[in-house]
Amino acid sequence: MITRIPDVNSVRASLQKFPRPLALVPTMGALHDGHLSLIREARKQVGSGGTVVVSIFVNPIQFDRASDLSTYPQPLAEDLARCEAEGVEIAFVPEKKDLYYGDRSILVTESLLSKHLCGASRPGHFDGVLTIVLKLFNIFQPEIAVFGNKDFQQLAIIRRMVRDLNLPVQIIGHPTVRENDGLALSSRNSRLSPGQRKDAPRIRRALEAARDLKVNGEQKPGVYLDAARSHLLAGAPGDFSIDYLELVDAGTLQPVAKVNCSAVLATACFYGNIRLIDHLEIRR
Ligand code: PAF
Repeated sequence: MITRIPDVNSVRASLQKFPRPLALVPTMGALHDGHLSLIREARKQVGSGGTVVVSIFVNPIQFDRASDLSTYPQPLAEDLARCEAEGVEIAFVPEKKDLYYGDRSILVTESLLSKHLCGASRPGHFDGVLTIVLKLFNIFQPEIAVFGNKDFQQLAIIRRMVRDLNLPVQIIGHPTVRENDGLALSSRNSRLSPGQRKDAPRIRRALEAARDLKVNGEQKPGVYLDAARSHLLAGAPGDFSIDYLELVDAGTLQPVAKVNCSAVLATACFYGNIRLIDHLEIRR
């Protein structure tokens, strides 16, 4: 039986009934197979004797566009059923008023890894992510927390926060889960029209086509970016647009001058107002 903890005040008392180690899987709900793979990884980490907590909270302070927040899918009953089916011990489903004081005045800010990619195109986004993740870590004090590699900038920034603030939690990154046609699973995929959904694997294909240039030893970032851009745009529907397309160093997340190290080709694209991200590592 899953225990649903509705608010912060009941966490401490509820947690006493659950054995450690505890693995936390922070989510914004609309759980898909990608989330389920994170939950399974959390279980693998803590074993049947430990506790898996899934938090479900559409964190308003990490949204830079009101329309994205208001249309974010929230199928709570299905989410809880999926958690239950996975054997999750605790679902934490707080409300905004439980987590944020009206006069709150502290935010966690990262100032280097968040300069490009989603950090540049979504001002304040990572402040919101780090703030809620740190709050969840403080509330549950998990030994382990599991995040998807799909949001690779988010994962890098969370690891940096854990390192720089000496947080006593082990961060596990878990591989991206994809549809058969290559589209990375995302809660936002459910908002795509059938036509947009059919078209969306173009994002993955474009990144792969650019990566293939590596075979010829290509080192100029511009060549990779031009290739990816032309594949992204060739024959794309009218409502498709590129938010960003960047080639960054896998460690620093700063744009590379030469592709001779491990680099990451990353993009965010729009179908109308639905924003999808994906990335591909170009290995040395
Ligand atoms: O990746 C997400 O779903 C969110 O950014 C997270 C980590 C749950 C914080 O709200």
